[in-house]
Order: sequence, then C-alpha cells, then structure tokens
Amino acid sequence: MGFETSDDAGVFKINDSVALIQTLDFLTPVTDSPYEFGQIAAANSLSDVYAMGGKPLTAMNIVCFPSEDLDENILSETLQGGIDKINEAGATLVGGHSVDDKEFKYGLSVTGLVHPEKFLVNKGAEKGDALILTKPVGTGILATAVKAGLADEKSTREMVETMSMLNRYAAEIMVDFRISACTDVTGFGLAGHLLEMAKGSKKNIVLFTEKVPVISSAKEFALMGMVPAGAYKNKKFCAPGVSVNPEIDKILLDLMFDPQTSGGLILSMRPGDASSCIDIMKDKGIRAEIIGEVRDNDHCGTLTII
Ligand code: CO
Ligand code: CO
Repeated sequence: MGFETSDDAGVFKINDSVALIQTLDFLTPVTDSPYEFGQIAAANSLSDVYAMGGKPLTAMNIVCFPSEDLDENILSETLQGGIDKINEAGATLVGGHSVDDKEFKYGLSVTGLVHPEKFLVNKGAEKGDALILTKPVGTGILATAVKAGLADEKSTREMVETMSMLNRYAAEIMVDFRISACTDVTGFGLAGHLLEMAKGSKKNIVLFTEKVPVISSAKEFALMGMVPAGAYKNKKFCAPGVSVNPEIDKILLDLMFDPQTSGGLILSMRPGDASSCIDIMKDKGIRAEIIGEVRDNDHCGTLTII
C-alpha cells in the first residue's frame, strides 16, 4: 500500500492469506504518572494496527531518556505501563532500543497481521454511510489543563482512562460489520482526520458537532483558554477543505480540531449497520456515537461542519 492518502500504517503482503501491518509512534509524557504515560503511549502506538483492521503480533520499545536528570524508576514504571498494554492487546514485546536524550519520549514499533484482502483504509467511504466515533474528544485540551496544574482529579482520571483504553474492543466489534473506511483520531484532531477520509474517498463528509462525545470538563477548560496551539494549527491547515456553519459555538469548533493522543476509531458504514454497531459498543462500555454522514456532492473531498 502506498503513502498517498497518509494512512495509519504500512501494509506488506507476505502471501495470499497473510499481510504485515507495520507502524511506529512515540510521545513526550502527557501525565504526571510514568505508569499511566506508558499505558497511553502503548495504546496510542497499537491503535494504528486496529485502525487497519489487524491484530497486533509483536511490539518493540522506543525510548529516549534523560538518564542524568530523571530517576531510573520513572523509566521502569513507564515500561511496565507499556508491557501491561501490550499484554492486554495479546501482543508480545520482543525488544527495543533506548538512547540518551534531553527530553523523555516513549512509544512502540508494532507489527500486526491482517488478511491481505481484508485490511481497512481511510478512503472508500460510500455515499449515505454513517460515521461512528468510538472515544470522546478533548484529550489535548485536558492535557494542557493538566500541565497548567488546573485539572482536578476527576477530569484527569477521565482523560487518562480515555487515552489508555485500547481500540481493540471497538475493533473486535467492527469486524462483524462491513466497514467502507476506517482510521483513528490522533494529532490532526477529529475534523482533520475526517477531512483526510473525505479527500481519500472523494466525498463530502458532514460532521454533526452536537453529536460528538466530549470529555466532560474539556469545554470548561477550553473556555479558560486551555486550547493547545496544535488545535489552531489544525484548523488553519484544514481550512481550504472545510466549511463551517457560522452559528456553531466557537469552543465546540475548537474541540473538533483538538489534537488527540490515542483517540478513538472513525468507522464509515451503512446507516442500518451503524445503529446496531453503536448498540453493541455501548453495551460494552464504549462511548461510541454516530457523528456524521457521507454525501456525494463533490469529487475533491470536503468537510462540512454543522
Ligand atoms: Co492513525
Ligand atoms: Co500513527
């Protein structure tokens, strides 16, 4: 598979029944707890395999650590968080590499397996499809509030739980449905990843802002100015392909562009399937909602935010 639609991972066909999915990602700390940071970074790295419709097989640690400034325990707790998520994903840690660096960074290189005819891509969304999002947005805003020392215990918990949750559970449910396009929400924000899907599919995607699940305190912190610079960068970068209803609440719009770490999956599927899929996901405790639809009124790929 080529690079032209900036998909989540590389796919390499081994034979008629097996293809490899390969991806890597690493982050700077997003919480004060090294163990939780390890869990979040691993869940984030594993996510691209799920977004391609595959199963993670092996993982390798990527570590940049300032050994002169930080205690060794910070590293071992981070790695433990990572191992626990790798195990939860049913994958095996097979190695890794660490270097000395001024700023701490951790992540994984992940190899997964998929049938060469069954992997999912971020293009191919069909006219009339409903779009499902499987996690609430707002983690970028929350992380900014945490860094500023403003987030309370409850908001911090909700952020950590959202980011450390594996997309495995949503992915295991989605395989029973016909998915026409799939990706995960990360640095470009929900709107940015939807625009990618629209462009790849050469369709118009309509995003219903009021339907998007949001971490409860994210709006509050956004009102206090805790919107990360990345959200404005995303908004500016996407502007040529996006039209926005001028009546939309400005804060809600910022949330649509909030860069996410380890965000949910976006699934494009027939509307009838989408409602059954949502019901099953909700039963399993996944905060999934139908947040948009695919229309066919252009051929270049655009996003309409209403
Ligand atoms: Co991705
Ligand atoms: Co990625």
